[in-house]
Amino acid sequence: MRRARTAVLISGRGSNMMALVNAAREAAYPAEIVCVVSNKADARGLEFAAANGIPARLIDHKAYATRDAFEAALDACLRAMKVEVIALAGFMRVLTAGFISSWDGRMINIHPSLLPAYKGLHTHERALADGAKVHGCSVHLVTPELDGGPILLQAEVPVLADDTPETLGARVLEQEHRIYPQALSLLATRIISEDKT
Ligand code: GRF
Repeated sequence: MRRARTAVLISGRGSNMMALVNAAREAAYPAEIVCVVSNKADARGLEFAAANGIPARLIDHKAYATRDAFEAALDACLRAMKVEVIALAGFMRVLTAGFISSWDGRMINIHPSLLPAYKGLHTHERALADGAKVHGCSVHLVTPELDGGPILLQAEVPVLADDTPETLGARVLEQEHRIYPQALSLLATRIISEDKT
């Protein structure tokens, strides 16, 4: 069975990347994780990738004079690996519209809120400050509007009276690890089926 060649981009812990790698261990899963790329040398996820036999690359944005030069290096790395799908997983660099449009419909992101609520950072703190009763996570296609692309999947969690950003964040993260592999599977299946048309 053909599987969609997928790169996971990280900047840190990489727990969502690990969820994708673990899902892709199943032979029937429609995506294969062909590389993990980090823009930060100290991203803990790089070690996991290397230990699991997945090419792990560092493309340090600080080594490039401009955002365009960084993105050109990233793009060259992904094209060299014949990547078809990009999964952003805690990747903390804003990408330009030019880069995003060249991967149109083929790049997804996991965000820790029920979009369109709480785009951007500190989502758990903001949900608690608002007294939200329900919170959650979303997987969306990446478009030039930050956290604004079409939503593929969402999962809700309750907000409990004694929640802190940490306890709420942990409840959301559990759902992230569940829905991100599902969402990648949906996109990968679509891309594979496009080959046949
Ligand atoms: C996750 O909460 C994800 O939703 C957000 O950044 C965090 C990354 O965590 N985009 P991890 O690196 O996947 O553990």
